[in-house]
Amino acid sequence: MPTTKCLKDCKRGAVFCMLFASICRAISRQIHYSIPEETEKGSLVGNIAKDLGLDAKDLSDRGIHLVSQGRSEYFALNYKNGYLYTTKRIDREEICGWQETCILNAEVIVGDSMKVYGVEVEIMDINDHAPTFQLETLIINISENTALGSRFPLYEAQDPDLGNNSVQGYKLSNSSHFSLVVETSVKGKQYAKLVLERPLDREELASQNLILTAYDGGHPAKTGTTQVHVVVLDANDNAPIFSQRIYEVSWREDIPIGTTVIRLKATDLDEGINKQMKFSFHKIAAETSHLFHLDSDSGEITLVGNVDFEETPFHEMEVQVQDGGGLLDSATLMIIITDVNDNAPELAITSVIHSVAEDSPAGTSVALLNVQDKDSAENAEVTCTVPDNLPFLLTKSYDSYYSLVTSRTLDREQVAAYNITVTAVDSGTPPLSSSTVIALKILDTNDNPPSFQETVYTVYILENNPRGASIFSLKADDPDWGENSRITYSVGEEDIKVSSDLSINSETGTVYALRSFDYEEFRQISFLVKAQDGGSPSLSSSISVTLFILDQNDNTPEILYPSVPIDGSTGVELAPHSSEPGYLVTKVVAVDADSGQNAWLSYQLLKATEPGLFSIGLHTGEIRTARFFLDKDALKQSLVVLVKDNGQPPLSASVTVTVVLADSIPESLSDISSISAPADPQSDLTFYLVVAVAFVSCLFFTFLLVLLALRLHRWRNSQLCDSGSVTFTGVPVSQFMGIDGVQAFLHSYCHDFSLTTGKSNFGFPKGNLSNTLPSQQPCEMKDPFLLAEDINSSHGDSATTQVSCVCQM
Ligand SMILES: *[C@@H]1O[C@H](CO)[C@@H](O)[C@H](O)[C@H]1NC(C)=O
Repeated sequence: MPTTKCLKDCKRGAVFCMLFASICRAISRQIHYSIPEETEKGSLVGNIAKDLGLDAKDLSDRGIHLVSQGRSEYFALNYKNGYLYTTKRIDREEICGWQETCILNAEVIVGDSMKVYGVEVEIMDINDHAPTFQLETLIINISENTALGSRFPLYEAQDPDLGNNSVQGYKLSNSSHFSLVVETSVKGKQYAKLVLERPLDREELASQNLILTAYDGGHPAKTGTTQVHVVVLDANDNAPIFSQRIYEVSWREDIPIGTTVIRLKATDLDEGINKQMKFSFHKIAAETSHLFHLDSDSGEITLVGNVDFEETPFHEMEVQVQDGGGLLDSATLMIIITDVNDNAPELAITSVIHSVAEDSPAGTSVALLNVQDKDSAENAEVTCTVPDNLPFLLTKSYDSYYSLVTSRTLDREQVAAYNITVTAVDSGTPPLSSSTVIALKILDTNDNPPSFQETVYTVYILENNPRGASIFSLKADDPDWGENSRITYSVGEEDIKVSSDLSINSETGTVYALRSFDYEEFRQISFLVKAQDGGSPSLSSSISVTLFILDQNDNTPEILYPSVPIDGSTGVELAPHSSEPGYLVTKVVAVDADSGQNAWLSYQLLKATEPGLFSIGLHTGEIRTARFFLDKDALKQSLVVLVKDNGQPPLSASVTVTVVLADSIPESLSDISSISAPADPQSDLTFYLVVAVAFVSCLFFTFLLVLLALRLHRWRNSQLCDSGSVTFTGVPVSQFMGIDGVQAFLHSYCHDFSLTTGKSNFGFPKGNLSNTLPSQQPCEMKDPFLLAEDINSSHGDSATTQVSCVCQM
C-alpha cells in the first residue's frame, strides 16, 4: 500500500510541475526550493543569487530585497552571499495543516532592473507527530445481550503529518471478547471498530479495559494509544430466583396478629431495575388472603387475621417474585398451623332420662353423652368424670360416647334427686374443661312399709267414756312418696269384738271408742292396729296396742250381809247379855265392783239406838260390843251401818242391823213381835227373791202351756187323719205349722239366728221348736231385733241366760 500511495504522489507531483512551469512563465522568473519542516533557525534554503544568475558581490548594490506578503518572515536573505536562510523553525502542520503541499512564497525584487522573482519554498513533511486520540479514554456501553458480530466505532486517531507519516493503522490489546476491524472509507480514511466476538455476560464480567493503539507509517513509526473502557450493560437476562422452592413454616395457632410469618428471599443476578423485585401472591385461597399480608418490596409476610388450627390446619399458597424486567419465579409457601389447646371439650347430652326408679339395678343407663374437642392430639384427649361421691359411673360406650349408669341401687328415701355434674377435661397444658349438669329424679317404689313411732303402745282410758270419744292417735310414717306413703289405718280386722268396740279414722289414725267401756266388765283390750300404705302391692305393718280401762268409782258398795230381806222382815243378830266388851256381834260384809281405792270400803256406824254400845271396825266391818250391856239398854238395838268406798267422790250404801240382846233365840223371838221390822223395800235381797219366785212361776207356767199344747196337737192330728180330706205329708212340719205368717217368720228368724251366732248349742231344737212355737210366739215377737242386739253385744255369755232373758220379756 505504501508503494501505491507513493505512485499516486509522484503523479500528483508531475501534475504540479506542469502547473508550476506555466506559473513560472507568467512571472518573470520563479525559483523553487524545498526544505523539510522543523529545520533549525538559520538553515540554508538555497542560493538565490546563483539561481538568479546574479553576482553575489553587487547584490546590495542592485537593491535586491525580499518581500513576504502578509506572512511572518520565515526567511531572510543574506545579502552578502545571496543565500536564503530560515528565520525560524517552520512547522508545516501549523502553516498548511491538511494541505497536501505546503508552499511558502516570497518575492525577490531586484530594484535596479525592476524585476521581480518569485521564490517558493516548499515545506516538506517529516514524521514529527505521533497519532493522537481526542480523549484518553473511550467509554463504550454495550448491552450484554448484544448480538455477536456487532460493531462499535472507536475514536479516530489524529496525526497532522501527511501521507505515510499520518495514521496508518490500529491495533487492539488482547481481548477475550472483542476483535478490531479497520474500515477504510471512500476517501481512504481508516475507521477502527470493535467487533463482538464472544457473548458478553455482565454478571460474569461487567467491564473491560482495552488499549487501542494507532500507528503511523514513519520511520520509526509513532504510535498513540487510548483506553477503551467497555462497559457491559445489564440486560434482564436473569430471572429472580427464590431461595427455596418450597417454604415451610410452622406456627402455633395463637400467634398474635402482626407477627412476621416468614420473609421470602429471592436473588436476581441482574442489576438496577432488572434487580428490583416485587413479591406477590400468585395463587392463594380467598380465605387465606385475608389472613396474610405480603409486603411486595420486602417479601415479608405478616399475619393480619386470626389463624385457627381447627379451621384450617395449613395454608398453602404460591408466591411469586418479579423483577423490573418482568421475569419471575414462583415458589410454594406452606404455613403449617400447630394446635394449641384453645378449645374446651364440648359435652353434649345425646339422650337422657330425667327420672329413674329407685329399684333399678346397678348399671341402669341414665344418659348418653357425647364429648368433642376441636383440638387435636393430646389437646383433644378428653377424660370425663363424675363426682366420686355420687352413685354413678361413666362408661365409654363407643368412640366419644359415654354412658352414665348407676353404680348401685338407689334409695329415693336417702337422696330423692341428683344433680350429676359431668366434667370433661382435655390433656392439654394447661388443660381446659367443661361440665354439664344432669338432673335426675329418683322415682319412688313402695319399698318401705309404714312404721310406727313406738314399738308398743299402751293407752289408758277412763271407763264410762262417752261413746265416740277419741281415745288416742297413732301415727305411722312411710318414707316413700305419694300413694306409697299414704297410710290407711285399720283396727281389729280379725277381732269382731274389738272392731265393735273401737274404730279408727283410717286417715288420721285417731282411735275412737264405739261404746262406753266398763272397767268392771273388762280391764284391758289388746288389739292390733294396722297401717297400710297405698302402694301396689301395698305394704303394711301392725302394732300391738294395749288399751287399759281405768276404773272410775261408778259402783256403790254392795252389802252382802246382812242381806236385805225380801219380805220386809229383817234378820236379827243376837248378842248375849253377858257379852263382854269386844264381843263380835256380827260382821257387815260388803263388796264393791270397782277396784283399788274405789273398792276400798270403810264402815261406820251412822245411827245407833244406843250410841256407844257398839263399835264397828273401820275396814273389817265387824260390829263389836263396846261395853257391857246394862239393864237400861233396850233389848233391840238398831244400827245403821254406812259402807263407803274410797273413790272420788265416794259412793256409799247403808244397811240396818238389828241386834237383839238375848242369850238365846227363843228368848229373842218373844221380843221379835215387838220389834218393828225396818222393811227396806229397796233391799236387793228382796228383789232377788222376787225374781227367783217369778222365774220359777214362769217355768211352771211354761210347762203347763207345753203340756196343753201337746194335748191339743194330738187331738187335732187324730181329727185330721180321721177326716182324710187334706194331706200334707210332703210338707215339712215346721212350714206347715206356719199357717199364719208370724209363725213362719219366727221359725226362719230363729234358724238364721242360730247360723249367725255360729253356736251349735244355741237356739231351739228343731223338732221341739215347732211344737213349742205357738206358746212362745207372743214373747219372741215383742222385739226380735233387740234380742239379736243383746246377744251380739254380750257374746260369750251362755245361751241359756239369753233364753231366760227372752222369757222375762
Ligand atoms: C339441682 O340444681 C337445681 C338448679 O340449680 C336446684 O334447684 C336443685 O335444688 C338441685 N338439686 C339437687 C338435688 O341438688
